Amino acid sequence: MRDMTTPLIELALADAAATEALGARLAEALRGVSGWVVFLHGELGAGKTTLVRAWLRTLGVAGTIRSPTYTLIEPYEIDGRSLLHLDLYRLQDAEELEQLGLADTPPSAGGWLVEWPQRGAGLLPPPAIEIHLRADGLGRQAAIACADQWRERLAARLTPESGSSSAYAP
Ligand SMILES: Nc1ncnc2c1ncn2[C@@H]1O[C@H](COP(=O)(O)OP(=O)(O)OP(=O)(O)O)[C@@H](O)[C@H]1O
Ligand SMILES: [Mg+2]
Repeated sequence: MRDMTTPLIELALADAAATEALGARLAEALRGVSGWVVFLHGELGAGKTTLVRAWLRTLGVAGTIRSPTYTLIEPYEIDGRSLLHLDLYRLQDAEELEQLGLADTPPSAGGWLVEWPQRGAGLLPPPAIEIHLRADGLGRQAAIACADQWRERLAARLTPESGSSSAYAP
């Protein structure tokens, strides 16, 4: 079977708390699982880092969660897994990507959360999940797609019927 990324769900995110709630749900969906890459698409200010911060908080990361705006990469060790938060907006070339040492922390060691993945087009592993965020009035609209192998796991936790048991608690 082809490992294709297919549309899964569209969500209206009325405010930043809704973006955080989505990040928390995704964190719960992939908690304790390794081997995934998440692409976060969206213009400057779309809410990508907001979602990632909530994801990491949900997994227990304490203290300041810095945006990798200038460092391009922020690594986390969580429950024996290595998570990378990448922001490739300022990536210059393939060589710079190599210098980030991604090979030392492959998705198989945990997972990658990648903002501006298109800047690393052709250089990144295929995503398990793609999240597109776009402005919609004062809020945001999220479109989520995922590879077939992740579909069941995510669908169960992202559809509105799945309740708000993982509501984000700041
Ligand atoms: N659903 C939402 N509705 C309204 N505002 C939101 C929503 N989600 C996030 N925001 C706000 O958008 C602003 C920018 O968010 P954030 O820094 O996460 O964007 P970003 O996509 O990471 O941008 P960049 O590409 O610059 O890294 C923040 O002030 C955040 O609170
Ligand atoms: Mg950001």
